Amino acid sequence: MAKAQPTPDPRIAGIRPERLTALATREAKRFAASRPKTRAALAAGSQHFLDGVPMHWMKDWPMPFPMLVAEAKGAALTDLDGYGIDDFCLGDTGSMFGHSPAPVAKAIRKQARHGLTYMLPTEAALAAADLLTQRFGAFQWQIATTATDANRFALRVARAVTGRPKVLVFNGCYHGTVDDTMVALHDGQTIARPGLVGQVSDLSQTATCVEFNDLAAVEAALASGEIAAILTEPVMTNSCMVLPDPGFHAGLRDLATRHGAVLIIDETHTISSGLGGYTAVHGLVPDMFVVGKCVAGGMPTAVWGMTADLARRFAAYDAQRPAGHSGMGTTLSANPMQFACLRATLAEVMTAKAYARMEKGAARLAKGLSRVIAAHQAPWHVVRVGARVEFICAPGPLRNGAEAATAHQPQVEAALHTALLNRGCLIAPFHNMMLVSPATRTRQIDRLIAAFDEILTELFAI
Ligand SMILES: Cc1ncc(COP(=O)(O)O)c(C=O)c1O
Repeated sequence: MAKAQPTPDPRIAGIRPERLTALATREAKRFAASRPKTRAALAAGSQHFLDGVPMHWMKDWPMPFPMLVAEAKGAALTDLDGYGIDDFCLGDTGSMFGHSPAPVAKAIRKQARHGLTYMLPTEAALAAADLLTQRFGAFQWQIATTATDANRFALRVARAVTGRPKVLVFNGCYHGTVDDTMVALHDGQTIARPGLVGQVSDLSQTATCVEFNDLAAVEAALASGEIAAILTEPVMTNSCMVLPDPGFHAGLRDLATRHGAVLIIDETHTISSGLGGYTAVHGLVPDMFVVGKCVAGGMPTAVWGMTADLARRFAAYDAQRPAGHSGMGTTLSANPMQFACLRATLAEVMTAKAYARMEKGAARLAKGLSRVIAAHQAPWHVVRVGARVEFICAPGPLRNGAEAATAHQPQVEAALHTALLNRGCLIAPFHNMMLVSPATRTRQIDRLIAAFDEILTELFAI
């Protein structure tokens, strides 16, 4: 007699598919029905944009159509239809200190009276550089407009000083749209990520991809002698969040030194960790330090710095290179408005007091979400890095990009995000990230926890 086969469990992240479909359908309808003004405005004006949006990824939000923002203040948004929304996305970190922090708004008004861009520094630039060193350590700084640019320029310097071609990145990483880093690990090979538009060069010639938390793989890659730089976030925040194993960063530092590679730490998201970013909080020792997004309070600005030793090596290289374009820099970078905002943010916004509030609020949020997950016996977990909290619709902890990719549940996440938004809570798209700013109120945090509970109650009903 044939042995009975066990029935495969059709659940998605522990949820019955019919429940998920019911929630997703109802919430999408509810979003659309409650936004007549937004729909009318999009119908009247979106045809002038390619694919209807000013940035193609604005289509990747889970709602049936984008929400048009009318106003943003502190940690709240108002949309065109007049709904007040608690904002936990905060521009995916650009507004991590709240929307238009007062000192930054004041600096913008003041600078606007003195010109916006002139390709020359100001006194505020000098003050900002001093503050950067106080906040992040003794690096020699350059200013860019986006963290993507900052990473690109940092990589050029690393290649220049080492004379090596490749960057080592971790599977599942994101460092902006830096071509070289758009790779993945597939069957042990570095490949270009599927979906890259107009990709022509072979990225495996300029990048090597290994798993996070795998020091043996890092060492093997470095042994090739081809690696100019290790570029990493301290915590992988652009997949489902992956924390470093104890000793991982010390190991990276040691391997980079032994093999003569430049260690670049990208703090663009982990700046949520506390004053000085993860580097200061956990005592990392990078050769180069990159941070963007919120560093000037939301004004497009990024900074990248190198140690004095690396700066000396770069100066030697620079003195020898032929005259011509460096391949680094953009016209509007290091403009006076950026410096005014950078100075205001570093001096008055990115403070120990602000981080203390953020830490307290984020701890409350993480605890509340974990409590809800446990109460519904959902096979999910919560990770927190300072002000950055994420719920992951799979058991954890996760150890690397491959595990993070498997944990990602786009269908569940899309339904949840829309359902949360219909309950007045906006969280980051693409993954389940929430930021707590100094302006975020306890009642906003509690509303998010309550909305999450209401949704899970429906999804996990017996
Ligand atoms: C770690 C990290 N680095 C760099 C970037 C790129 O930032 P930007 O889009 O401002 O260039 C991002 C964007 O999400 C990021 O998460």
